[in-house]
Amino acid sequence: MVAWRVAVHALALLLLLGSAHGLRNATQRMFEIDYSRDCFLKDGQPFRYISGSIHYSRVPRFYWADRLLKMKMAGLNAIQTYVPWNFHEPQPGHYEFSGDHDVEYFLQLAHKLGLLVILRPGPYICAEWDMGGLPAWLLEKQSIVLRSSDPDYLASVDKWLGVLLPKMKPLLYQNGGPIITVQVENEYGSYFACDYNYLRFLQKHFHYHLGDDVLLFTTDGPRQEYLRCGTLQGLYATVDFGVGANTPYAAQPTSYDYDAPLSEAGDLTEKYFAVRSVIQKFEKVPEGIIPPSTPKFAYGKVALRKLKTVEGALDILCTRGSMKSVYPLTFIQVKQYFGFVLYRTTIPEDCGNSTRLSSLPLNGVHDRAYVAVDGAPQGVLERSRVLSLNIQGKPGANLDLLVENMGRVNYGRYINDSKGLVSNMTLGFHILTNWTVFPLDTEVAVRSHLGSWANHDADLHDKRCVHGSSNYTLPAFYVGNFSIPSEIPDLPQDTFIQFPGWTKGQVWINGFNLGRYWPARGPQMTLFVPRHILTTSAPNNITVLELERAPCSSCSPELCAVELVDQPVIGAPVVHSHHQPWFIKTRG
Ligand SMILES: *[C@@H]1O[C@H](CO)[C@@H](O)[C@H](O)[C@H]1NC(C)=O
Ligand SMILES: *[C@@H]1O[C@H](CO)[C@@H](O)[C@H](O)[C@H]1NC(C)=O
Ligand SMILES: *[C@@H]1O[C@H](CO)[C@@H](O)[C@H](O)[C@H]1NC(C)=O
Ligand SMILES: *[C@@H]1O[C@H](CO)[C@@H](O)[C@H](O)[C@H]1NC(C)=O
Ligand SMILES: *[C@@H]1O[C@H](CO)[C@@H](O)[C@H](O)[C@H]1NC(C)=O
Ligand SMILES: *[C@@H]1O[C@H](CO)[C@@H](O)[C@H](O)[C@H]1NC(C)=O
Ligand SMILES: *[C@@H]1O[C@H](CO)[C@@H](O)[C@H](O)[C@H]1NC(C)=O
Ligand SMILES: *[C@@H]1O[C@H](CO)[C@@H](O)[C@H](O)[C@H]1NC(C)=O
Repeated sequence: MVAWRVAVHALALLLLLGSAHGLRNATQRMFEIDYSRDCFLKDGQPFRYISGSIHYSRVPRFYWADRLLKMKMAGLNAIQTYVPWNFHEPQPGHYEFSGDHDVEYFLQLAHKLGLLVILRPGPYICAEWDMGGLPAWLLEKQSIVLRSSDPDYLASVDKWLGVLLPKMKPLLYQNGGPIITVQVENEYGSYFACDYNYLRFLQKHFHYHLGDDVLLFTTDGPRQEYLRCGTLQGLYATVDFGVGANTPYAAQPTSYDYDAPLSEAGDLTEKYFAVRSVIQKFEKVPEGIIPPSTPKFAYGKVALRKLKTVEGALDILCTRGSMKSVYPLTFIQVKQYFGFVLYRTTIPEDCGNSTRLSSLPLNGVHDRAYVAVDGAPQGVLERSRVLSLNIQGKPGANLDLLVENMGRVNYGRYINDSKGLVSNMTLGFHILTNWTVFPLDTEVAVRSHLGSWANHDADLHDKRCVHGSSNYTLPAFYVGNFSIPSEIPDLPQDTFIQFPGWTKGQVWINGFNLGRYWPARGPQMTLFVPRHILTTSAPNNITVLELERAPCSSCSPELCAVELVDQPVIGAPVVHSHHQPWFIKTRG
């Protein structure tokens, strides 16, 4: 859901130095492999590229030129980038290619700066991106086998490639653009299906749309067995090293920082300068001024006040209307691909006072449910962690489960990751039935309806000071604003938002979704706020959806605050046993 977060993780493509001179017609743009001399030929001349990785889908368009120029100044002569299918086709047949989604503009910027491009259009990309870039709507066919020659999967891929690849064709090197090579799939050799017909289908379609002279390649993990299923005759094979997997289930964090030479905020790190001096030993790096790290500003504390609980705002959150179903429906069944769905039923007649809520089969809550009975918070169920919960409530009381999708598995056999209540729920010995399912559109609510309430209609129920015994507060929206002085030059500047005392939730500034915060779990404590979403001409509004426990109550409203600081607190990196911050790509 967080569409623009960073990532410039580094990557050196080391290639072979050729010595002989090309015999070809040098005036013709051409990029190819000379197998006899084991080197690339660019316009007939032996060529080596040094590339770094940048995900345009994680960086706001506003900062594309800055990040690319910094990469260029490090001495890179090429970049590589993924194209996430689900970023461009969020719903079947509905395409997004403008603004932050304008991949053609991004590639033209690279071209203008003299950077070549290694394009990695998938359709599966992994990339620690939701479902590895595949659109969740593919799961509408329950038995679909993703990344295989399943006919429904191929039909969707066919349509998508027919939209994307014609846009890429004029950007190929031989057609005057920056793209020198194009990757087919990604690490397919480590996927269980091992379906050569699927790779052949892709190869055929890539050639059909891009021409016979396009240089296609595959990338796989560095093991013989991976290469067996991942490669195909006619496709150039490469390998990479080091993985980030997610079984048992782990949520997708908002920021993606592989200890990259450029930080999420585009800052130059020590590693950046180390990279530059290594490259300098082999190639001339561009002269001139390296664009500096952008300045950051600490706007300070911003007071928030509680506006509405999710339950109290259902009419504006659920504009598509609710659905009735005897057994729970999944997110896909109600055509909700991200975010939240509220499931409501009533406690059956002969249930006791304190009864165990669970699912059958177990672990059927994907991924987290915030449970309340008649408006009293009961606790949290969490996939693979908290599988049951005792709840208090009288027969006939409303039982609400607000279920959060925390990101789909992006690697391995189980990328077909269904969200919502994917099993039946049980209360004591009962299977709960007769659900009302509310798909929630938080984005539209935050950008429009909540705003019109902010000035008058705050939650009045909560004015009396009652010390609750519960460790939880109801999921609710909190709002506040801050002004940026217009008389100080160079404002607005980038900043970081921090959540003292808050537990877990989602945050927007001026309607722009900055991502999830979860300081209670860490390691990420701050979210990056790029300056282009801020303004000096009016107050900037902040909306927080706290799901679990707010720091404040009606007795202590002053504790409801967030803080805008000038330093990120990302915490310790998640350590993998074979973690390598640098991927070195060589010929496999
Ligand atoms: C080189 O290529 C250009 C452009 O395709 C063509 O006009 C020219 O005749 C070629 N020259 C030779 C020597 O093949
Ligand atoms: C996901 O796909 C795998 C492999 O095709 C299959 O074994 C599994 O049953 C699927 N799971 C769901 C929930 O559909
Ligand atoms: C339900 O149980 C709680 C705690 O065990 C108790 O405080 C409460 O009085 C009980 N309510 C009823 C209606 O029995
Ligand atoms: C829920 O229970 C009903 C009745 O036992 C059963 O038919 C249905 O398959 C169950 N659904 C799931 C997702 O387990
Ligand atoms: C579920 O709804 C149906 C139809 O309204 C009703 O007949 C049935 O008794 C309900 N079941 C429960 C457990 O409330
Ligand atoms: C916050 O700002 C956005 C963008 O200007 C606006 O759409 C939204 O209604 C505002 N929300 C509040 C709570 O004022
Ligand atoms: C309340 O929640 C905190 C953090 O999750 C936990 O450490 C604490 O034990 C809980 N307290 C009670 C009374 O459940
Ligand atoms: C901004 O917040 C203040 C309280 O801090 C409030 O009085 C004011 O109405 C808010 N303004 C807007 C435009 O939301």
